[in-house]
Amino acid sequence: MPETLTSAQPLYARHARAAERGAWSIERDICWGEIDSSRALAQPAILAKLRDAALIESFHPVNLSRLIRFAWDDIDAGVVFSLEMYEGFKHFHALRLYLDTVGYEPRITDAELRAIRERADRDDLDPTEPVAPLVEFMLSEHLAAYFFRRLGEQADEAQLRILLGLIAADEVRHAQSASDLIAQRLAAHPELVPNVLRAAVQFRHYGVEAVGDVPVAMPGDDVAIRTFATRIERLCGMRIVDHLKQELER
Ligand SMILES: [Fe+2]
Ligand SMILES: [Fe+2]
Repeated sequence: MPETLTSAQPLYARHARAAERGAWSIERDICWGEIDSSRALAQPAILAKLRDAALIESFHPVNLSRLIRFAWDDIDAGVVFSLEMYEGFKHFHALRLYLDTVGYEPRITDAELRAIRERADRDDLDPTEPVAPLVEFMLSEHLAAYFFRRLGEQADEAQLRILLGLIAADEVRHAQSASDLIAQRLAAHPELVPNVLRAAVQFRHYGVEAVGDVPVAMPGDDVAIRTFATRIERLCGMRIVDHLKQELER
């Protein structure tokens, strides 16, 4: 394996490599026998957020199947979504396991998970909008990273802190992968810049479909919001506020 990837190598090789470097193990990296249940249960608000997060992660097969169909001919996107499917499953599995281990109620049931999928929109995404679904995906992952990081900072239970740190790092990587896919599309079609800006302004977290009110970034998390805008502006070479001004002037 070469130390540095050359530009001749496909984008997915970089994503695969980053995924291998960031890989962690549910079994080995969390000491399940050392979890302090009473300490965890003393923070029910955190566990409630964890439960919603597990439900959102469980929803990936529906959300990603739409995205896979949307970007079916994009080789790199197929890899990014495959990694997301696996790692999103891992997040769901680890979070549910954690909640069950500490004895949090109500327990997540398979019937509940199926009900979420039954309510979901299983139709195709709008094929006339070539980049917006990727923007929604990227921003959802970006906010998920901040959500898990902040939750980890607030959690008192040591194994939960470790788990949330590992998940947050995955989400950062997922957001970056999505950003790479968008950059690739913009390089080939610079005329799509306004579509990216529009999608950012109209952003809606896909988790809304799963749990209604998504506990995305913590309220008042200025850094999460600022970096949200930075991601878009770096891709588009334009500030979101300037885009909005232009739209108003039309
Ligand atoms: Fe996730
Ligand atoms: Fe993710």
